Parts: sequence; C-alpha cells; structure tokens
Amino acid sequence: MKIENICCIGAGYVGGPTMAIIAQKCPHINVTVVDINEKRIAAWNDEDVNNIPIYEPGLSDIVKEARGRNLFFSTEVDNAIDKADMIFISVNTPTKTYGMGKGMAADLKFIELCARQIARVSTSDKIVVEKSTLPVRTAEALKNILENTGNGVKFQILSNPEFLAEGTAVDDLLTPDRVLIGGDIDSEKGKEAVNALVDVYANWVSKEHILTTNVWSSELSKLTANAFLAQRVSSINAMSELCEKTGADVNEVAKAVGMDSRIGSRFLQSSVGFGGSCFQKDILNLVYIAKSYGLGEVADYWEQVIILNDHQKRRFAEKIVKTLFNTVSGKKIAILGWAFKKDTNDTRESAAIYVADYLMNEQAEIIVYDPKVTEEQIYADLDYLGTRSENENRSLLKVVNTAKDACRDSHAVAVLTEWDEYKKLDWKEIYSNMLKPAFLFDGRRLLERKAMEDIGFEFYAIGN
Ligand code: NAD
Ligand code: UDX
Repeated sequence: MKIENICCIGAGYVGGPTMAIIAQKCPHINVTVVDINEKRIAAWNDEDVNNIPIYEPGLSDIVKEARGRNLFFSTEVDNAIDKADMIFISVNTPTKTYGMGKGMAADLKFIELCARQIARVSTSDKIVVEKSTLPVRTAEALKNILENTGNGVKFQILSNPEFLAEGTAVDDLLTPDRVLIGGDIDSEKGKEAVNALVDVYANWVSKEHILTTNVWSSELSKLTANAFLAQRVSSINAMSELCEKTGADVNEVAKAVGMDSRIGSRFLQSSVGFGGSCFQKDILNLVYIAKSYGLGEVADYWEQVIILNDHQKRRFAEKIVKTLFNTVSGKKIAILGWAFKKDTNDTRESAAIYVADYLMNEQAEIIVYDPKVTEEQIYADLDYLGTRSENENRSLLKVVNTAKDACRDSHAVAVLTEWDEYKKLDWKEIYSNMLKPAFLFDGRRLLERKAMEDIGFEFYAIGN
C-alpha cells in the first residue's frame, strides 16, 4: 500500500515538527496538518517563518522548504481527513481535571472526538495512527468507535508514539534512536498497514532503527520510556539533597556513576525539578493504570518519582526564603528562565511557575526574563494555577526584556532555565547593580561557584 496523502490532526509541539520532517523527507507525499485552533494555524501559515508558533532550533528552515509544496496547515479538518490514506492523531492528552481519575488519568476526550470525526467523515479505507501518548489499550476504544459507523469503511489502527524531546525536536526526528510502530501484526491487513508506515519512515530512517511490535507493547513502551527518564532525574535530584548535607557534589557523583556503562551518563543532570508537558502527565497516567489493575506496589513505586520532583521544586523555593533571612516579603527576586528547559518556548509544568508561585505567596516581588517566553504566556501560567487574582499576579510579578533589567536592584537572582546566554552574562555588572548581600541561586548548575564567589555573590547551587 502506497501512502500519497497524510493528514495530521493537531498542529502542536509534536504534530507540527513531525509532519514538517515527513514532508521534507517525502516530497512525494502530501502532508496536511489540521487544527481547530485558528490562531495556531494562522501562525504556522505566517509569511515570515520566524513567526511559526513553536520555537525549535532548525524548524523554521524546514517549514520554509516544504510549506506550500507538500506541507499544508489548515483548519479544514473534514476535508483533510477525507482525502488522506493515513491519519495521525496528535492531539493533546492532558491529565484529567474533573471526574473519575481527576489529577491522574489522561483525558482522552480530544482523542475520542477525533475518532468520531474520522468515523463520520471518511468515505474510503484509512490507516489511523496514534501519535499522541496514550494509555495502554486505547487502540481498542478507537477501534470500537471507528468500526461501528455502519458505512463499510475499514480502518487499521497503528500506535506510533513520538520520542522527540523539545529543544532538540528536529535532530531527534532526523536521527531517531528508534521509530516504534505497533500494529495488528497477526493479520494480513494489519501487517500491510504497519509496512505502509515503515515505508514512510524508511525514506530517511534505516530499517534497523524501525521497530515493529504489537499495539499494546507500543502504547506501553511510550509511558515506560518517559517514566524511566523522569525516574533518573528524580534519582539524581534525591542525591542532590544528600550531597548538600554531606559535602559531596552531585555533578561529581553523577559523573562517577554515569561512567558505569550499565548506567550511562545522560539524564543525570540535577536540577530544580523536571517540567514539560510529558513526564508528570505520563507518570500520573501510569500510576492510574497500575492502580486500576489493582497493582498498588507498582503504582506507589512510580508515584514516588513525582513526589520527589514536587519536593525538589519546593525545597529550592524554601532555600531562597531561608537564605534571605527567612523573609522575602517586599524583596525583589529576579527569575532567569521560565521555559521548562532551554531552546523551547514551552512552559508547561515548568519548575519556574511553581517556584515563582511559592515566592509570591511569601509576598516577594518577582521580575522574570526569558529569551523565548512571552509575558502573555507567563501570566497565563500563573493565572491557570488559580492561587491569586489576575490583578495580584500582575502586580506581584513583572516581565522584562533583558537579564540586566531583571536583576537590577534585586536582592536575589534565581536561574531556573539553563539558557546558554545566561552563562555569558556580564555577572560582574549584574552584581554591581544588585542590593548587598547579593544572593545567586543556581537551579541548573549552570554557573561556576568559584567565579561567582570571586565576584562577590552569596552563591547556592543545587547539589553542591
Ligand atoms: P499540543 O497541545 O501542543 O498540541 C495539540 C493540538 O491538538 C492543539 O493545537 C489542539 O488545538 C489540537 N486539537 C485538540 N483537539 C483537536 C481536534 N479535535 N481537532 C483538531 N485539533 C485538535 O500538544 P503536543 O505537545 O503536541 O502533544 C500532543 C501529544 O503528543 C500528547 O499526547 C503528548 O503527550 C504527546 N507527546 C508530546 C511530546 C512533547 O514533547 N510535547 C513528545 C512526545 C509525545
Ligand atoms: C521528554 C522525553 O525526553 C521525550 O523522549 C518525550 O518524547 C517527551 O518528554 P521533553 O519533556 O521535551 O522530552 O524534554 P526532556 O529533555 O526530557 O526534559 C524534561 C525535563 O527534565 C526538563 O525540565 C529538563 O530540564 C529536565 N531534566 C532533563 C533534568 O532536570 N535533568 C536531566 O538530566 C534531563
């Protein structure tokens, strides 16, 4: 089966970059990315590619190359579905905020809406690909919805979870460690569908890196991978607290431990806590699934990764208050970095949101500078927490355009995202414009202790 038309529902952090790469590498396939969010689609279509809605190094050039040739962004969802041989579902699957499973389970309403829309609109057979991260056995529910339309259209359902990380999405997509495709490999039609998707990726990924499994293994592998990655961060963060008590340095410990080839050196960077739209959501979902099968010990094991992460964010904020003589009321604290990691404008679950909220509860005045996150987004993140009124958020926290402006006249500076540019700041000048004693809290191990102490800062770094 040869794929000529692809539709992707969801033009977000996954749908946008993934489809841009497919379009770039498969000029013979027409790729249409659709979304109900008109503003987002308009931004993807902006004449100036620098205005596309997602900041990812290298992405705008790829969009520039393929857009209008075989890559299209549209709000006409029905049209794109009907035309496609293969439909990727790449919509958001956030943690439920209501009803059964509130605060734990994945909210699958957007997924179900897509399935119902595909069922309603389709007039020819299609392959439906789960690109969103989904609880194991979701394909069963999709199948149920798609196969009960009564119009005779046949669907094959594949699971093809996405492993890209934000900030490195383009590289991750161009040279993935593996592409995972789950399908009904026991049936001829199922195998055909799996092969059709393998052929798409084989345009730029070698066959050894394309792994095919049954649907359930594929769905569960995605949750497992994120749980393992997050667990490493929580493990090293747990050690960071012990390091601070004992005189060990978490970076030295991480290096020593990571040189064991059985452990490996990546994902051992201690931090103010992991953020992002995936880790917390997917682990909570895993915990919920384990509980729903009555697997209490399995659920508790994974929940601890989240508990430790919440502790890490809180203890960093507490450290600031304690160090500033137990009160930050009326004190000006500069926050450098609002994104959940460098090289992205995404702020979902960013540790900075929680640290700022904690300090604002202590009546601190917060000044934020982030090179890629807008003021509008920062206020939206705080308003979403619902801790205080929108007016209070705007009066307690201000957003500025340079690190220098953020730090001027402040009592303390907290580095919460590891943006490269923060390393190159004129820290001497920053110090000279701050109130004394000038406190500097490094939540990312970005700065050199000795250099900062030589300038005169009272310096604190995670795990040191
Ligand atoms: P996102 O919120 O950035 O994008 C999802 C888009 O889907 C939104 O623009 C939304 O408007 C659109 N949408 C929702 N319902 C729709 C509908 N019925 N019709 C048309 N459009 C609809 O989300 P994301 O970060 O791209 O994540 C998407 C999925 O991929 C999630 O399941 C996530 O867990 C998974 N994932 C994300 C990442 C990541 O780094 N962000 C990595 C791997 C996997
Ligand atoms: C993650 C997974 O890495 C990716 O495979 C999956 O598809 C989506 O979820 P992402 O959330 O985009 O990707 O970024 P990632 O690099 O994993 O970082 C997540 C968080 O952990 C960030 O806040 C980051 O700063 C933090 N982190 C990561 C650490 O604190 N220390 C580390 O060593 C690594």
